[in-house]
Amino acid sequence: MASDAPAPVLKSGVLRWIDDRLPIVSWGYKEFVAYPAPKNLNYFWNFGSLAGICLLLQIMTGIVLAMHYTPHTSMAFESVEHIMRDVNFGWLLRYAHANGASMFFIVVYIHIFRGLYYGSYKAPRELLWMLGVVILLLMMATAFMGYVLPWGQMSFWGATVITNLFSAIPLVGESIVTWLWGGFAVDNPTLNRFFSLHYLMPFVIVAVVFLHILALHQFGSNNPVGIEVSKKDKIPFHPYYTVKDLFGLMVFLLVFGGFVFYAPNMLGHPDNYIPADPLVTPPHIVPEWYFLPFYAILRSITFDIFWIIPAKLGGVLAMFGAIAVLFVLPWLDTSKVRSARFRPVYKWLFWLLVIDSFILGYVGSQPPEGLLPTIGLIATIYYFAHFLVILPLLGKLERPLPLPESIGSPVLRGGMTAQAAE
Ligand code: HEM
Repeated sequence: MASDAPAPVLKSGVLRWIDDRLPIVSWGYKEFVAYPAPKNLNYFWNFGSLAGICLLLQIMTGIVLAMHYTPHTSMAFESVEHIMRDVNFGWLLRYAHANGASMFFIVVYIHIFRGLYYGSYKAPRELLWMLGVVILLLMMATAFMGYVLPWGQMSFWGATVITNLFSAIPLVGESIVTWLWGGFAVDNPTLNRFFSLHYLMPFVIVAVVFLHILALHQFGSNNPVGIEVSKKDKIPFHPYYTVKDLFGLMVFLLVFGGFVFYAPNMLGHPDNYIPADPLVTPPHIVPEWYFLPFYAILRSITFDIFWIIPAKLGGVLAMFGAIAVLFVLPWLDTSKVRSARFRPVYKWLFWLLVIDSFILGYVGSQPPEGLLPTIGLIATIYYFAHFLVILPLLGKLERPLPLPESIGSPVLRGGMTAQAAE
C-alpha cells in the first residue's frame, strides 16, 4: 500500500516537505481520494463508512463520559445520574453514547447482510470478511462490558448470567468464572476490569478496521452485480462516493437524532434505572436488542445433546457457534456466482434467513413460555442448516442466471480511464 508518487494536490510547501519524508498524505490520497471504486455501488455500500463514523462517535463521546464516570460499585450508578443532571450536555453525551451503540449495531448488521446478499465474502475477499467477523466479536464484547458500567439492575444481572455461562466449560469452567469476576461474585473488581477493557477495546477495533480496509483495497470493492470490474467501469472514490457517503451520513444523523432527542430510552430497559441489587433478581433478565437472536440460540438448547453434551454447555456452544459458522462461510458457500441477483433460489433463502433472525430476536426478548421455546429451537436449527447444509448443497444444485459481461450500463457513461485507475 506504500505510495510511490506524491499526491497531485501537493505541489510544494510544508505538506509536500512532510509527505516526501512521511508519505501519509500521498497514502491517504491514493487509498481514499483516488481509490478506484466500481461505478455501480448502491446505497448498501454506504454502511461501511457509516460503521467507521459510528466507531469514531462512540470513542469521542466515550472519552468524555469517562472523565465524569466513577468505576466503583458504590458510585457508578450515582455518577451516571450526575452526568445526566449536572454535567453540561452530559445527558446528550450519555444518550448519544448509549443510542450510538444501538445505531452502530444496526449499521453493522445491515453491512453484514449486504455482504451475505452480494456474496462479498467469496474469494478473493475471504480474509476481509473474516476480519469483519473478528470486529463483530470485539464489538459484542465491548458493548456487553459497557452495559455493565451504569451498574443498574440489568447491568448487574446481565453480567451475572453471561459470565456464569463460562461455568459450563468442563473441569475448568468454575475457575474461569472466578478469574473473570476477580472474586466470587460480580462485584467491584469485575466492574473495574470491565471499565478498563471497555475503554481499551474500541482502539483494538480501530486497528482491526485498518486491516479490514487494507484487505478491502487489496482486491477492491465487490459490487451489486458481483462480477469482476474492469478499469473502465471504475470511478475515483472522490467526489462520487464521498458525496454519496455524506448524503447517507445526513440521513443516518436524522435517524440517530430522532432517537437521541425524542426517544432516548426506547431501546434500553427501564430496569437499568434501578440501582444494582445482588439480593433482588429482576423477573425477566434480557440483554440489549442486538444480542437477542444470540440469546434465543443460547436458551434454545434445553436438553442434553446426544446424552453427552449437557444442555447448558450445548447452549453456550450453539451461541458461539452461531458466530463461528460465519468465519468459515466463504468455504461453505460452494456457488461460483457471487451476487444473489443471479441466484434465484439463494435470493429467497437469504430473505428466509433475515426472517429467521427476526424470529430469533423476538423469541430472545420473551420469557421462555408456551410455544416460544419450540419456535426458538426450530429457528436455531434453521439458522445452522442455512449455513451448514443449504449453502453447500445449493451451490451445486442451483442454476444461476446468465452473468453479464460487464457492469457497464448505458446510463452510467464515463468511468475511469485506464491511466486514472492506475
Ligand atoms: C467497526 C465495524 C466495521 C467497519 C468500520 C467496517 C468498514 C468497512 C468499509 C469502510 C468498507 C468499504 C465500504 C463498504 O463496502 O461498505 C467495508 C467493506 C466490507 N466489510 Fe466491513 N466494516 C465493519 C464491520 C464488518 C463486519 C462485522 C463484517 C462481516 C462480518 C464486514 C464485512 C465487510 C465486507 C465483506 C466488505 C467488502 C464489501 C464489498 O466490497 O462488497 N465488515 N467495511
